[in-house]
Amino acid sequence: SSEYIVLKGGDKMPRIGFGTWQASDEVLENAVDAALVAGYRHFDTARAYENEAALGRALRRWTGSSLAKRKELFIVTKLPPGGNRPELVPEYFNSSLKDLGLEYLDMYLMHTPFAFEHVPGDLHPKNSDGSMKVDFTTDLIAVWKSMCKLKESGRVRHVGVSNVNEEQLTRLCSVQKPACLQIEVHALFQQNHMVAAANKLGVPIVAYSPLGSKALADALAAKTGREYPDLLTLPTVQSIAQAHGRTPAQVLLRYTLQRGLAAIPKSTNPRRIKQNISLWDFALSQTEMAELAALDRGEHGRICDFSFFVGIEKHPEFPFKKYTK
Ligand code: A2P
Repeated sequence: SSEYIVLKGGDKMPRIGFGTWQASDEVLENAVDAALVAGYRHFDTARAYENEAALGRALRRWTGSSLAKRKELFIVTKLPPGGNRPELVPEYFNSSLKDLGLEYLDMYLMHTPFAFEHVPGDLHPKNSDGSMKVDFTTDLIAVWKSMCKLKESGRVRHVGVSNVNEEQLTRLCSVQKPACLQIEVHALFQQNHMVAAANKLGVPIVAYSPLGSKALADALAAKTGREYPDLLTLPTVQSIAQAHGRTPAQVLLRYTLQRGLAAIPKSTNPRRIKQNISLWDFALSQTEMAELAALDRGEHGRICDFSFFVGIEKHPEFPFKKYTK
């Protein structure tokens, strides 16, 4: 597997990126520093993570002292669900660029196909009963067209989408092909159908939660009582790791790469950060690939089902058929 995915126009997106969700500012700045040392050049954030400024600061320590050139970096952020209206796209895009302290983005993604009401200063607006303030009037195609138009400014090199389903991806492709599709993919939720569909459409996939996003799984388990198996301790994963003298995380990530996907593992620990990008000097056999493929639990393996956004499933563009309870 190559270390890059070559995008339209020849830009290279590193196949391993650094995920930044759920890290506090100080922890994140140190982690980004460790990631740059380890060789990461692809960084993934979102307006909704509220850490763009911290990521920007950490990156500037490097670009400012020419340890890394801006053009060697691949920076991704996302339009928040409260910005899913065509007229709001430029405003949210500008705020992200400003907070990141960048002159251009490498990739701008629509974070979700569903939308919250636009409430200035509140990225997750809620009603008094705890449910989300849902914007039911979303015109997905109009939002996408507005995102595509951003490219004319020269301040974003590629636009793509996240968390859409196959039907939505196909609809978006009829306007303009997204430069990538970022979705949850891991050993228990392999998304075979979606991967095949995106391959057919020629849209590269970036896998989020490639290690099973333990923090989110734990939070959901505490709320719903549902059990989320730990990917890293699955016997199949452990025995393959042992056979290669690698860690379970490396096996899971290498598996994702050998499936042809990119991945954005998140870690705040320097040792694990380094581990998660040290994947190019070993390979899984066909038999091992088949053993890992057999771990798929289909829709039951989904972790990020957005059930934490109470009431969001009523949105007409809610991407998943049902919650996986
Ligand atoms: P930590 O930040 O302490 O390393 P995902 O990328 O699927 O969201 O998973 C992130 C979770 O996996 C975090 O809890 C992270 O913890 C943990 N993690 C990341 N890399 C490794 C690794 N190499 N080995 C074990 N756990 C890891």
